Amino acid sequence: MCGIVGAVARRDVVPVLLEGLRKLEYRGYDSAGLAVLNGGLQRLRAVGRVAALADRVQNNGLTGLVGIAHTRWATHGVPSERNAHPHVSDDGLAVVHNGIIENHEAMRRELGALGYTFVSDTDTEVVAHLIHHHRRQGLELLEATHRAVSRLVGAYAIAVVDERQPDRLVVARRGAPLLLGLGEGENFAASDASALLQVTRKMVYLEEGDVAELTLEATRILDASGAAVTRPLHESGLSADAVELGPYRHFMQKEIFEQPGAVANTLEMVANASSIIPELFGADAATVFQGVDAVTILACGTSNHAGMVARYWIEAIAGLPCSVEIASEFRYRDSVPNPNALIIGISQSGETADTIAALEHAQGLGQRRTLALCNVAESAIIRLCRLRFLTRAGPEIGVASTKAFTTQLAALFLLTLVLAKQRGRLSPGTEGEHLTALRHLPSALEHVLAVEPQIEEWAKAFAGKRHALFLGRGMHYPIALEGALKLKEITYIHAEAYAAGELKHGPLALVDEDMPVVAIAPNDALVEKLKSNLQEVRARGGELFVVADADTAFTGSDAVHVIRLPENRGALSPILHVVALQLLAYHTALVRGTDVDKPRNLAKSVTVE
Ligand code: M6R
Repeated sequence: MCGIVGAVARRDVVPVLLEGLRKLEYRGYDSAGLAVLNGGLQRLRAVGRVAALADRVQNNGLTGLVGIAHTRWATHGVPSERNAHPHVSDDGLAVVHNGIIENHEAMRRELGALGYTFVSDTDTEVVAHLIHHHRRQGLELLEATHRAVSRLVGAYAIAVVDERQPDRLVVARRGAPLLLGLGEGENFAASDASALLQVTRKMVYLEEGDVAELTLEATRILDASGAAVTRPLHESGLSADAVELGPYRHFMQKEIFEQPGAVANTLEMVANASSIIPELFGADAATVFQGVDAVTILACGTSNHAGMVARYWIEAIAGLPCSVEIASEFRYRDSVPNPNALIIGISQSGETADTIAALEHAQGLGQRRTLALCNVAESAIIRLCRLRFLTRAGPEIGVASTKAFTTQLAALFLLTLVLAKQRGRLSPGTEGEHLTALRHLPSALEHVLAVEPQIEEWAKAFAGKRHALFLGRGMHYPIALEGALKLKEITYIHAEAYAAGELKHGPLALVDEDMPVVAIAPNDALVEKLKSNLQEVRARGGELFVVADADTAFTGSDAVHVIRLPENRGALSPILHVVALQLLAYHTALVRGTDVDKPRNLAKSVTVE
């Protein structure tokens, strides 16, 4: 999604703005731009990567003491220089924006009637003209911005500069992330902390409806009502170098191989424990969990798949009914609220607009037992929920989520054990066995990564295909969904996943020799049934790629390729099997030459609806 960086300093801010944009590249974008004040307003924009913008900046010798910069992920209007931000109004006023202004068409008409002309297809341009309109009526930039955003319907984070007040930068947010970074005699703003770690660790998170003014020595914040407010100062604990590529070709590859360490970090608090306690999920978790009679999980994409796996655990081990809802659907559905349900929001980024809105919707229905399971400590979801569990995967940069997923699963298994224990469904012996299995996960993951050479062979066969089918049963059905999502996301091969028992109810019609079928085949209670499903594929000439356990009785042949994972870890098996599918997607993308870390049309952090 779009990324914003702003700066006001005594030094040239252009290098800070460009470095900030580079740190936000992971969010996904298709064009970039910046504007600085240097005597007057100067703006440069470029389609494509930040590197293209940096070249233009260098060729033009652009410098300035105040500036705003932006990476754009197209919503209104195609990716083009004309639609790239910043957008300008008269008299040297420039705006960058993340989010969607839902009433932009009405505002366009209104501003058009006031004499403003529009040169882009974006919703953002109305923001620039609206602020200018209020400036023209004599308001200072801060007040003009406050007045303007009060007219906007939708989600926004914006940053504004105006050559008639060249000593300041004004920012505002509602429904999209924005924070301030406080320096010594200089101040900054950005969409997330990673963009500002280069200059400061002192962060102030703006709240919904806040508008802030940044000058060299001060920041001033108005809340939605216009009252002056202060917001708490946070010292960021993020590591500035955690996002370097190191010896890997791609962040996705790095993140796949980081999974043993990421899971170990996530489970560190139970590394030496002989038993588990609710407080792993927050100080008042025991109170919140008391009387919980159901679980509702809200999430999108890969995080939703983690919830789908957890459903099998929560129902089987903790004995609680569990529903898993696609966040973007739940927020608009007339569901039946249950105040005793534990509402779990799962999100890698903690900034996914649909998941945030679904959690707010649940809270609005009186469901207040909320738990955030998230990878980013300084995120909106963490601030929103009563309980929290931080997966400690470290920054995930590749758009395709990998280590966030396996750490989410590790955390969800831990949660299952806590809920089961609180409900008296976990004997000390079983608790100990599960904890031992969890502690073994990092080394089990190491062993799975060793199948990479065999997966590379499979990838050669997949790279030439146009479609693929993924099958799984039970708690490995969501793993089939996740495998298909990974493949389509980074290779652009059309992939679908089915619960294997569903095959004969329709998708079998698709199977022929051009349709590779990937089957997740752990040696569990359903394996014999799965084998029957796979016979149905073979009988139609379909080529099978089976991810089995070492002890799964499967015989390979010319058209039945079997990779055996070294260990069968029972209930934790989904965490291992998914790694093989991540590697399959990665290596297929390598053969096809796609942009692995930044697949077309996608964003890392989906901060708009
Ligand atoms: O940050 P979140 O976990 O809330 O993101 C949810 C989805 O956007 C995300 O998982 C997406 O599906 C990934 N690109 C999948 O690899």
